[in-house]
Amino acid sequence: MSKPARPEDPEHSDPQTAAHPNLARRRFLQSAAAAATVGAAPRLHAKEPTMTPATPPAAARAAPVRPVRLTINGRPHVLQLEPRVTLLDALRNYVGLTGTKKGCDRGQCGACTVLAEGRRINACLTLAVMHEDESITTVEGLASGDTLSPLQQAFIEHDAFQCGYCTPGQLCSATALIDEFRAGCASAATADVRTRPAELTAAEIRERMSGNLCRCGAYPNIVAALAAVQRRERNG
Ligand code: FES
Ligand code: FES
Repeated sequence: MSKPARPEDPEHSDPQTAAHPNLARRRFLQSAAAAATVGAAPRLHAKEPTMTPATPPAAARAAPVRPVRLTINGRPHVLQLEPRVTLLDALRNYVGLTGTKKGCDRGQCGACTVLAEGRRINACLTLAVMHEDESITTVEGLASGDTLSPLQQAFIEHDAFQCGYCTPGQLCSATALIDEFRAGCASAATADVRTRPAELTAAEIRERMSGNLCRCGAYPNIVAALAAVQRRERNG
């Protein structure tokens, strides 16, 4: 005598029993569990730790150093530098001239401004090797011995700094500004760029110094210092 089939027996193939709601629900849950397990497999695999290469990629390895010749504040230097060293890091970390400041390290604040062949540049945005054989002037090179430059003197007289962090960059930038104005360079504030700007107005100074930020907000005093130097120069 055959064994009576139980409605919940999963082995049972009787169509009537298979249609039983309890059995259908059990099979559905079994299928869903199997699908979830298969679906989770790739994610479990993704969580496995990735293999670390035995040697770092070429980009992470140090590049060979090479000699870089620079004249800094009138003194010749031969620095042994990796090609990726910025001029700012070369000045501060290899020559020990820490007057040039690192503010943002991405060309936004002007704290690192120095003069390269008389042109003002952001030292954080340029590599030292790109200035091979050039003459670099930092804030330490603006004075002549114990005699401050006219701009340095004017900054003191006009109280053109508070914390002083931006000041080396402001001074180098202002030094180049005066030279640019003497050379007749126009700026975005110059009314007629076809003619030499007649006067270094406050608007001209603000525009030409706009690459140098000052968190302390010493801007009015910086403008006053620059205007005073320009006035003295004009009046002899
Ligand atoms: S540190 Fe170079 S621009 Fe800010
Ligand atoms: S004096 Fe402090 S940031 Fe300019």
